[in-house]
Amino acid sequence: MNHDAVVERVLAWASTTIRELPWRTTRDPWGVLVSEVMSQQTQVGRVAEKWPIFMERFPTPESCAESSLGEVLQLWQGMGYPRRARNLQQCAAAIVELGEFPEDLGTLLALPGIGPYTARAVLAFAFGHDVGVLDTNVGRVLARVGGRSLSASEAQGLADELVPAGESWLWNQAMMDLGGTVCTSRVAHCDECPLADICAWHGDASVPDPARTSAGVSRPQSKFEGSERQARGMLLKRLGAGLGAISDVPEIVNRDPVTSRKVREGLVKDGLCVIDGEMIRLP
Ligand code: ADE
Repeated sequence: MNHDAVVERVLAWASTTIRELPWRTTRDPWGVLVSEVMSQQTQVGRVAEKWPIFMERFPTPESCAESSLGEVLQLWQGMGYPRRARNLQQCAAAIVELGEFPEDLGTLLALPGIGPYTARAVLAFAFGHDVGVLDTNVGRVLARVGGRSLSASEAQGLADELVPAGESWLWNQAMMDLGGTVCTSRVAHCDECPLADICAWHGDASVPDPARTSAGVSRPQSKFEGSERQARGMLLKRLGAGLGAISDVPEIVNRDPVTSRKVREGLVKDGLCVIDGEMIRLP
């Protein structure tokens, strides 16, 4: 792979095509952290609606740490995977405890729920460090352009090597857009891709997609309709509007008693719901 050619083309493409997203106007590390935790498992369009509302209510780690988890969960409503909201609030508390927002990889990685992706995203998007932000979209682009599956360390190494010095913010956002909008998992829109003529795979249907077996490139999410994930969301949504009777849970989540119980107990175990006598409510 010719690194210089990849960088030059992606940056030129980004200069006209980069998406306007609300969090791209901030370099505030808390705002960046919130946007990245939200974006990991939720579609960009939904995050674009929710991020400004969340940031208005919780503009700082302090404001989030001081709130009840119930209120954080209410603002999270509609984004799914609510353990992220709990972890984010725990992160806020840890940052308050530290006294300032950490700017090094080791301290960021030690925060609750923060993995290599989110830690590097904060370093690149808030602090401008020259690190490669490797999510599933970027991992897919790298595997396809290089024409082979990559191990986790190969993918991270390549992502880091490619970052053009001093342009980490634009470079990493551009790579995410390329993977999110052009080099997508189901279809590769090679006709729109700035890397098409130097891409080893180039959407060739006769060759297995190298991204499919590459480390860090996620498989499709499991079916939502009828899932326990859906039932958990239904219960949290209802409890956001006020507490409910435990005996009403099967009706609220529209599941049989055994599944309903499992859903309720799972949420309590995760600290996302609290039992109060006969009632269940947000923490
Ligand atoms: N997905 C995760 N982070 C993102 C970002 N900063 N921009 C667009 N999509 C993203």
